[in-house]
Amino acid sequence: SKLTVIKRDGTHVSLDGEAGVSVMENIRSSGIDEILAICGGCCSCATCHVYVDTDASGALPPMSTDEDELLEGSPHRRPNSRLSCQVPFSAGLNLISVEIAPED
Ligand code: FES
Repeated sequence: SKLTVIKRDGTHVSLDGEAGVSVMENIRSSGIDEILAICGGCCSCATCHVYVDTDASGALPPMSTDEDELLEGSPHRRPNSRLSCQVPFSAGLNLISVEIAPED
């Protein structure tokens, strides 16, 4: 199913999302290079920060303490912030869009 990514310049890009693979990996494998993912997806760099827009609350997997603490260190944190490496993509997520957060 489709995954809509909003880049930092506001451009919307529609991807064919691969299920079971993280949102971070889906974005990077599409060629969008704005997510650095320095730690490779092991929840320790926070460079994969996104704002998630879903059509059903609670559809996302819960946030771990590690993810919460890393996001707490970002001045750009919003209520819908997530680290995209910690969210496996699936059709059941009901994702409307994922917006790439500004660089910290
Ligand atoms: Fe490093 Fe997500 S890629 S925290």
